[in-house]
Amino acid sequence: MSIVDRFIASTLPFVPKPIVKRIASRYIAGETDDEALHVASELNGRGFRATVDLLGEHIRTLDEAQPALHQYIGLLESIAQRKIDSTVSLKLTQFGLKMDKDACLAMVDSIVNRGAALNNFVRIDMEDSSCTSDTIETFRRLREKHSNVGLAIQAYLRRTAEDVAAMEHLKPNIRLCKGVYVESPEIAFREMNAINRSYVSILERLLRNGSYVGIATHDEAIVREAKRIIRELQLPVTAYEFQMLLGVNDALRNRLVAEGHRLRVYIPFGREWYAYSVRRLRENPRIAGYVLKAMLSAKL
Ligand code: FDA
Repeated sequence: MSIVDRFIASTLPFVPKPIVKRIASRYIAGETDDEALHVASELNGRGFRATVDLLGEHIRTLDEAQPALHQYIGLLESIAQRKIDSTVSLKLTQFGLKMDKDACLAMVDSIVNRGAALNNFVRIDMEDSSCTSDTIETFRRLREKHSNVGLAIQAYLRRTAEDVAAMEHLKPNIRLCKGVYVESPEIAFREMNAINRSYVSILERLLRNGSYVGIATHDEAIVREAKRIIRELQLPVTAYEFQMLLGVNDALRNRLVAEGHRLRVYIPFGREWYAYSVRRLRENPRIAGYVLKAMLSAKL
């Protein structure tokens, strides 16, 4: 992590909110369902699929989960009414994973259930390592009942290869990402080559197993390796998709779609955008470098 990254990350809380909003607006679709679905629909028009993520995590009481529960159900209904090609992504801590696993499971179950009735799909994001086991366990229990639920896993965790092996019989629908939280070297690879090696090996294992994989990355080297594996396994374009975050590397996104691959854009939105932006930057100051680039190119 460079001194510049560290400096930006530590000073961000003192940057005026309107400026943070201006920078974040490239990565966050707005505050309301309408704004997020407008972005999703606009992306659909350009050949991309979407997944919308209502920002918010780590609630303090289970009651605080209720608004998010209703909002996710409303989102699924609006997506269906407006015929938008978008799934939803959610974080389990937003539904009280850390307080009451059964209550969390019941709430997410009702979202997945509504998604099934509307022919839609729910992806569970993966949070920091204190949540990994409980998130996988919740996914397993949901997957036993529903086929329209998938899980995100992180290639930087040393445990992930084993987690994947233990889930193989479920043929899980997996989003594979590198991992965004700062974790200790005891549990996570820290060096980029090691993370990339783990990513490619897990990707190949999942695809060979017949899992549908959301290849979530903006790293051109990983994209090249993914295409090699897809070619070698002679997979049809329906067996996988690429996934990228809103506002990141539009050129790569356009190229992949022009080549005939499916690509889903992850669209975060919600009133929690400020806390989310600041926390993410503090958690992973490397992202601060991206923000600096955005600041330099933004017309503030
Ligand atoms: P890498 O970090 O090497 O970045 C490659 C290049 O992409 C960089 O050089 C930079 O130019 C650009 N880039 C990457 N991220 C950027 C950003 N935020 N802003 C601007 N430029 C950026 N993580 C997690 O722990 N749990 C999860 O559930 C998810 N979910 C998720 C969904 C989707 C659709 C994506 C694409 C990513 C996630 N992630 C995630 C985040 C993921 O773990 C990872 O931190 C980022 O995608 C960055 O990793 P890359 O594979 O892009 O490589």
